[in-house]
Amino acid sequence: MTELHVFPTADALAEAAAEYMVQLAHAAVMEQGRFSVALSGGSTPRALHAHLAAEPLRSDVDWGRVHVFWGDERCVPPDHPDSNYRMARETLLDHVPIPAGQVHRMPGELPPTEAAAAYEAELRSFFGAAGEPRFDLALLGMGDDGHTASLFPGTAALAETERWVAANWVEKLNTWRLTLTVPTINQAANVVFLVAGAGKADRLREVLRGPYQPTALPSQFIRPIAGRLAWFVDMAAASGVES
Ligand code: 6PG
Repeated sequence: MTELHVFPTADALAEAAAEYMVQLAHAAVMEQGRFSVALSGGSTPRALHAHLAAEPLRSDVDWGRVHVFWGDERCVPPDHPDSNYRMARETLLDHVPIPAGQVHRMPGELPPTEAAAAYEAELRSFFGAAGEPRFDLALLGMGDDGHTASLFPGTAALAETERWVAANWVEKLNTWRLTLTVPTINQAANVVFLVAGAGKADRLREVLRGPYQPTALPSQFIRPIAGRLAWFVDMAAASGVES
């Protein structure tokens, strides 16, 4: 089931998403003693992180039970300005008491294929090698080309059905990226897209209301098998959808 939640501003979106994440964390900790979340990169999550790092939400999370992962990462060192890990560290992780061993960083500093294999091994260790990578929450953004995580239009990783993590060559960016694969994201118990800004409106309408063409619009691949999919968008991004 796909839910669309529209908020008046990007900050209202971020606040609601933060509250939603806290509720999911409470439920996961009650049920299984831990909460696993795959963070998104890009700029939209900054506001979400700020709400989580501030009171009252900061104290409302049992950070000792939280495990943080990433949905994708740039192939750069962890202190690089483009690093999704660095963004999350600066806006959230440095401000909450999460044990260092529960921050599962994608090793962007390694050669891409080696990095993807290493991260998959870390996921298999966490979720159980024979199990499935069932994140309690996968946070995603959507690019203005319809990509999500580092699953870009027309790239090889879109076709990956066995691996949990892929090294993906992105021609348009002339760079390698690390990304969870479509099957891995679709194993999540909850998937939340955060989409803000008028620049996303046309693409969001295509993704949500247009024909199913996921190779061109990879966000359309995201259909949780046994999970809940929710889109948290601001009015600017939703203008094309509501019309
Ligand atoms: C990344 C992200 C990417 C991002 C979208 C939206 O590493 O860049 O994972 O998928 O979520 O590009 O980015 P914005 O939030 O900056 O619009």
